Amino acid sequence: MTDTTVRIAMNGVTGRMGHRQHLVRSVLALRAQGGLELADGTVIRPEPVLVGRSPHKLRALAERHGLEEWSCDLDTVLADNSIDIYFDAQITAAREDTVKKAIAAGKHLYVEKPTASGLSGALELARLAQEAGVKNGVVQDKLFLPGLRKLRRLVEGGFFGRVLSVRGEFGYWVFEGDRQPAQRPSWNYRAEDGGGIAADMFPHWEYVLHELFGPVRTVQAHLARHIPRRWDESGSPYDATADDAAYGIFELAGGIVAQINSSWAVRVHRDELVEFQVDGTEGSAVAGLHGCRVQHRATTPGPVWNPDLPPPGSFREQWQEVPDNAEFDNGFKAQWELFLRHVVRDEPWRWDLAAGARGVQLAELGRRSSAEGRRLDVPELPR
Ligand SMILES: NC(=O)c1ccc[n+]([C@@H]2O[C@H](COP(=O)([O-])OP(=O)(O)OC[C@H]3O[C@@H](n4cnc5c(N)ncnc54)[C@H](O)[C@@H]3O)[C@@H](O)[C@H]2O)c1
Repeated sequence: MTDTTVRIAMNGVTGRMGHRQHLVRSVLALRAQGGLELADGTVIRPEPVLVGRSPHKLRALAERHGLEEWSCDLDTVLADNSIDIYFDAQITAAREDTVKKAIAAGKHLYVEKPTASGLSGALELARLAQEAGVKNGVVQDKLFLPGLRKLRRLVEGGFFGRVLSVRGEFGYWVFEGDRQPAQRPSWNYRAEDGGGIAADMFPHWEYVLHELFGPVRTVQAHLARHIPRRWDESGSPYDATADDAAYGIFELAGGIVAQINSSWAVRVHRDELVEFQVDGTEGSAVAGLHGCRVQHRATTPGPVWNPDLPPPGSFREQWQEVPDNAEFDNGFKAQWELFLRHVVRDEPWRWDLAAGARGVQLAELGRRSSAEGRRLDVPELPR
């Protein structure tokens, strides 16, 4: 049995996603389980080197997790030949320049979405990475969540017949930050800092729709800024300049209509924070992050519209839970494992910077559609 150590410079690990999902739940979890074992017995051992701006935060983080290597000097870390992968979970606005440096240093790349602030930047990163011949990936975690994996199982098994429509509902109330602290960083609510819910969520919707139902061909969006004033991490008020809700209609190749509401100004009356209902000629499903319920054509009741009568019972009870039939690991970790296999063993991988650019494109077109008040075509991007 051989061991392969993969050294990963992890930037942005003091942040929400970088710390919890990527460092703790993915890379450290892989180390805690003894590495990633491949079929031939080879074990891939990821070794994180923490990178960031604040020495005291990084030192504290390293100590908390028993790690020795951290640095605030990105250039030196990138110049270190023993580093194999550069990982980026910084705020979106900081990503482009840093990723370019990592490409120039010849590192493989794994980055959070959106890969860049605009389409031209996202395409440039994809092109530079391809020219440099480095392996590259973008986080598309939703695909690896139990609910969506069960939904994929249904799609691939032909459960729906012809899929007609997808309706997605995402969101929750994000506190303004005055009377209760906000659950999300304040940069998310400032357009000038790369914030906005379309920039944040349309990249997710792009890959979910693309992978499960087909590429998005048109977008019509209405963006809103419902809450204009919020309070930041230090308790100071600021103007919320970015969209905090995006109501989108997406036409997919083949005519499927997807309609997805995304909002940080909505209170949850759902089973999960995101849910997708898929209706097809043979059956329907409602999938969340964890659960997935179905109603087959053969078991579809025939509701009769009669406003004089109260509902005859619970419509929800007329659906059937799709069993797990598997153990689902953390979605971020599952994708990390595939990326490490791709880097070490050259296993197939399609969630690259070119795929990430499609998400940035959809966000950009969504913003334009809203500003111009019209439906826009989504041109196919080069691979
Ligand atoms: N995949 C997902 O589901 C998901 C969810 C949320 C966020 N994200 C993405 O992850 C990235 C980080 O988001 P987050 O919510 O963890 O943000 P965060 O504010 O919690 O963390 C940001 C990180 O970037 C660093 N940083 C670098 N330059 C900075 C600057 N100029 N100002 C402020 N911070 C700076 C911070 O130190 C911190 O480590 C974003 O690109 C976001 O779009 C992805």
